[in-house]
Amino acid sequence: MKRILSGIKPSGDMNIGGYGGALHQFVKLQHDYECFFFVPDLHAVTVQQDPKELHQRSRDIAAFYVAAGVDPKKATIFLQSQVPAHAELGWLMETQAHFGELSRMTQFKEKSDGKDIVSSALFTYPVLMAADILVYQATHVPVGEDQKQHLELTRDLAMRFNSRFGTTFVIPEPIIQDTGSRIMGLDDPSKKMSKSNPIRNSYVLLLDSPDDIRKKFARAVTDSEMNVRYDWDQKPAVSNLIEIYSVFSGDPLPTIEKRYEGQGYGAFKKDLAEIVVEKLIPIQDHYKQLVHSEELNRILKEGAARAAEIADHTLLSAKRAMGFVTFEG
Ligand code: AMP
Ligand code: TRP
Repeated sequence: MKRILSGIKPSGDMNIGGYGGALHQFVKLQHDYECFFFVPDLHAVTVQQDPKELHQRSRDIAAFYVAAGVDPKKATIFLQSQVPAHAELGWLMETQAHFGELSRMTQFKEKSDGKDIVSSALFTYPVLMAADILVYQATHVPVGEDQKQHLELTRDLAMRFNSRFGTTFVIPEPIIQDTGSRIMGLDDPSKKMSKSNPIRNSYVLLLDSPDDIRKKFARAVTDSEMNVRYDWDQKPAVSNLIEIYSVFSGDPLPTIEKRYEGQGYGAFKKDLAEIVVEKLIPIQDHYKQLVHSEELNRILKEGAARAAEIADHTLLSAKRAMGFVTFEG
C-alpha cells in the first residue's frame, strides 16, 4: 500500500509557491495514494506567532486544502496539534537525532541567521517533521525542493531507529516534481517565493484580488531579451514565470515556449496573470464558504480521529521497541 503524508505550515498567508510545490500535487496524488494531509501548527510556533493569527491561519490552510480540490472523503485532513502522538514520537526521535546533524540543516541556518533569540524548537523542528511522517508509516512525502534535506534526515532517523530497536518504521521517499517544486520571487529569481518576504510584489497570495494578481505579474522582473525561453542558467526570471504558467495551466514547458515564440513578454505575462486568476477565483470562493463553517470543523474532527488511530498504533510499537512499559493491546 502506498501512503502519503504532507502538510503546509500555517505561518503566513498562503502563496502560489506552496501551491506549486505542495498543494497542487496533493490534489493530483489523492487518486493514487492513501493520503494524510495535515496542518503542521506545532511547527508554526517554532517562531513567535500571534495566537489569533495562528488560529485563523490554521483554519485557512485546512480550508485551502479542500477548496483546491482535496476530497475529504478520500484524504484524511487534520490539525497536527489534535493528534498528540506526533509530539510524543517527536520526543522519542529526538533521542535518536544528533546535535551535529541538526546543526547542518540549511533551513535552520537560514531561519536563525542574524537572530538574537532562537527557540530550541526551531532547532529540533526537523525531528518533529520526521515523527509526523514516520508515525503514519508514510511511503511517500510530496514536498517542494526546500524540504529535501529534512526528508533525508527523516530517512536517516528511521533507519537508525530500525537498526537499533528492530524494524518499526517504513522508510519514506520524497516526491519532488520537476516543475513547480521551487517557485522563486517575482522580484528576484534567486530567492524562493516566500510568505515571510516583506516585499509584497515578490509573491502572489492565494487570496490576492484579480487586480493585485495582474499588477504583480505585470511588474514581475524578466530580462533584457525578448524571448520566452526556458533556461534557468541564462534566463532565471522568465523560466520561473514559465514554470508558474505550467503549474497553473497544466501545459508542458515546450508547449508554452512554442506558443509565445517571437511575441516578447507582454502577451505572455498578461496571459499568465489570467490563467492564475482563473484558477484562483473558484478556489477563493470555495475557501470563503468553508473557512468559518461547521463543515470544516467536522472534516477536521473526523480527520483527527482517523489519523490518531494509525498514529497511536505506530507510537505504541515504537515505545515497545524502546522498552517502555505499555499495557495497551
Ligand atoms: P511551508 O509553507 O514552508 O510549510 O511549505 C509548504 C510546502 O510548500 C512545502 O512542501 C514546501 O517545500 C513547499 N513550498 C514552499 N514555498 C515554496 C516555493 N516557493 N516553491 C515551491 N514549493 C514551495
Ligand atoms: N517542514 C515543512 C515545511 O516547512 C512542513 C512540514 C512539517 C511537513 N511536517 C511535515 C511537510 C511532514 C511534509 C511532511 O514546509
